[in-house]
Amino acid sequence: MNGLKDRIALITGATGLLGSAIARRLGSEGATVAIASRSLSKAERWVDDNKESGKYIPVQLDLSNEQSIADCLKCVLDRAGVPTLLVANASLREGVSLPFEKLIHSSFTNLFAVDIAGHILLARKIVDALDGRPASIVFLSSIYAQVGPDRRIYPQGMSPAPVQYSAVKAAAESATRWLAAQWGSRGVRVNALVPGGVAAPARQPEEFLARYSQKTMLGRMARADEVASAAAFLASDEASYVTGHCLVVDGGLTAW
Ligand SMILES: NC(=O)c1ccc[n+]([C@@H]2O[C@H](COP(=O)([O-])OP(=O)(O)OC[C@H]3O[C@@H](n4cnc5c(N)ncnc54)[C@H](OP(=O)(O)O)[C@@H]3O)[C@@H](O)[C@H]2O)c1
Repeated sequence: MNGLKDRIALITGATGLLGSAIARRLGSEGATVAIASRSLSKAERWVDDNKESGKYIPVQLDLSNEQSIADCLKCVLDRAGVPTLLVANASLREGVSLPFEKLIHSSFTNLFAVDIAGHILLARKIVDALDGRPASIVFLSSIYAQVGPDRRIYPQGMSPAPVQYSAVKAAAESATRWLAAQWGSRGVRVNALVPGGVAAPARQPEEFLARYSQKTMLGRMARADEVASAAAFLASDEASYVTGHCLVVDGGLTAW
C-alpha cells in the first residue's frame, strides 16, 4: 500500500484483538510500529512474539494519565522519530460490564477520560511535533455509535455493549470531524473506522455468532485482518484525499 513503508506508526491498545492485527498489517507494509500497552512487559512480549513480521518498538502508555502520554511520545521520538501515523485503537474495558442499573458517574467519566481525552491529547502532542510533516490519524469507532444494539440476538447471560460505550464511540466520530477540520490545512488527515462485530469464538457463544451473522448482508462476523486492511487504507497515502470520514466495515449490517 502506498505511503506506509518507512513511516513511523503509534498504535494504542496494540496488544489487543484489533490492535494486534492492525500493528501486524502496518508492520508487514514496512512501517516501524510503536506497540503501546499500559504494561511495558506485555508490549515487550508482543514484540518478541511478532519480531519476524516487522519492525516494532514496545512502549508504555496509560491514556488516563497525561504524564504517561507525554512519556510515551518522548519514548517513540527517542527510539524511532516523529510518528506520522496514529491509530487511536485502545478502549477501556474495565467497568464496562456493569449492568445499566448499577452504572455510576465514573462508569462514564473513566471511559471518556481514556478513549476521548487521552487520545485527543496524544494526537495534539503528535501534531505539535510534526513540524510540517503530513500525518494520518485513525480513530476506532463502532457500529454502536450509529445504531442501537439489537437485544434479540443476545442469549441469556450475555449483554450488549453498554450505553457509555455507544456514547464514547459517537464522541470519537464527532471528534474525528472536528480534528479533521482543525488540522486539514496542516496536511493531517483524521478519519474513523467503524467496525461491526469481530468474530472471537472463544468469547462469543455459538448462538450469538449465528444470530449476529444473520444480521449482516455477508452472513458472517468480521475477521480482525479485514478491519486491519481498512485501517491500513485510511492510514496510507491511498486515502490521501479522505479526511473527516467514518468508514463503516460491517458486512452490510447497518445498510439494510
Ligand atoms: N472487537 C470488536 O468486535 C470491535 C468492534 C467494533 C469496534 N471495536 C473497537 O476497536 C478497538 C479495539 O477493540 P478490541 O476488541 O481489539 O479491544 P481489546 O482487545 O479489548 O483491546 C483494547 C486495548 O485497549 C487498551 N487500553 C485499555 N485501557 C487503556 C488505557 N487506560 N490506556 C492505554 N490503553 C488502554 C488495552 O491494552 P493494555 O491492557 O495492553 O493496556 C486493551 O488491550 C476498540 O476501540 C473497540 O471499541 C472493536
